Amino acid sequence: MTLRLVVPKETWTGERRVALDPSVAERFQRLGAEVQIERGAGCGSHFGDAQYEKGAKLVDDIVAALAAADVTVRVQPPSLEEVEQLRDGSVLIGFLAPHRNAEVIRRLRDKKITSFAFELLPRISRAQSMDALSSQAAIAGYKVALMAASLASFFFPMLTTAAGTIRPAKVVVVGAGVAGLQAIATCKRLGAMVEAYDIRAAAKEQVESLGAKLIDTGVDASGQGGYARELTKDELARQAEVLARHIAAASAVITTAAIPGRPAPKIVTKAMVEAMKPGAVIVDLAAESGGNCELTQPGQTIEHNDVIIHGPLNVPSMIPVHASETYAKNVFNFLSPFVKNGELALDWNDEVIAKSCLTHDGQIRHEPTRKLVG
Ligand code: NAI
Repeated sequence: MTLRLVVPKETWTGERRVALDPSVAERFQRLGAEVQIERGAGCGSHFGDAQYEKGAKLVDDIVAALAAADVTVRVQPPSLEEVEQLRDGSVLIGFLAPHRNAEVIRRLRDKKITSFAFELLPRISRAQSMDALSSQAAIAGYKVALMAASLASFFFPMLTTAAGTIRPAKVVVVGAGVAGLQAIATCKRLGAMVEAYDIRAAAKEQVESLGAKLIDTGVDASGQGGYARELTKDELARQAEVLARHIAAASAVITTAAIPGRPAPKIVTKAMVEAMKPGAVIVDLAAESGGNCELTQPGQTIEHNDVIIHGPLNVPSMIPVHASETYAKNVFNFLSPFVKNGELALDWNDEVIAKSCLTHDGQIRHEPTRKLVG
């Protein structure tokens, strides 16, 4: 039977991305799958319905389409109501936020949905082309750099004018993961002097390769799977002391530090903000998980002591065309090796499939989530 792949319109407030763009829909069709997309699903990403006509069937009744779907592809996690619309035993792919979605995951389990969460994708070389966390983080990193440049009261580049020379702005990027590195690269392109800080020792080489300077606090917190671990109290104090000096001299601070499945570490304290230059800005990409700055209000822009603190949410959605295109490619690279002659044949011996699976056959396959859901 032909594999039926259904893409609903995203329903989260402000979400502009779509899980498949027209060209990837067509690529799935060429593999023999039938792609159905909810009418208007691509509008937020500027993909009109007409663009999908070649590679997909536009559907008006998404509830009926989902009830007959073999695979549902989304960007954001479904609501409880949307889980009810999925066909029992079908496949779901998307960001599923396993650490904060217990009710939804319980229902996915009980409906015997085979769900794959991009948050669980193993970070091995072979999976890089499927890594939606990375593709979206890179987009967010670029955008937060632009936000910092436009909110700061200073030029980023050095300027020589008839009235004198303006020195380049100093930008501090905290967290040099995928988003942080892209923020560094973007600030460098804008001509700023960039310093970066990360607790993983491996970040040094990456930061330096972009022409930025690593702030060395003497704390290394490399954890498992390339991620960071939580710091001890002593390590935190040491980190704070060194960072405070660099932040005080910065025109802009961009924070991107995260620990998967945990609230964001609080790195920029109120005292550090109060020591910053008037007119400086903090853009806190970690606002989504609580913020790296003590004063961040997620989703808001506030001022404290003449410093702007901006806590944007869902930043990748602000560059929806490229965010959707790269996300769709991640989905294609993840799923297409298992689509043969228009049918889906998942290989459970494949490390990527096995590790990305959140629920299957009435069970939660990801141990930490199983404990959380209880
Ligand atoms: P993330 O979004 O979980 O965290 C962002 C950054 O914050 C990380 O670099 C982390 O070390 C840092 N951080 C956490 N706590 C901190 C603290 N208290 N102070 C300062 N920094 C702190 O991580 P992301 O960006 O998703 O990936 C982390 C790393 O994983 C990448 O830099 C890369 O080296 C590796 N990676 C490997 C891939 C592969 O091989 N397939 C794919 C993607 C990433």
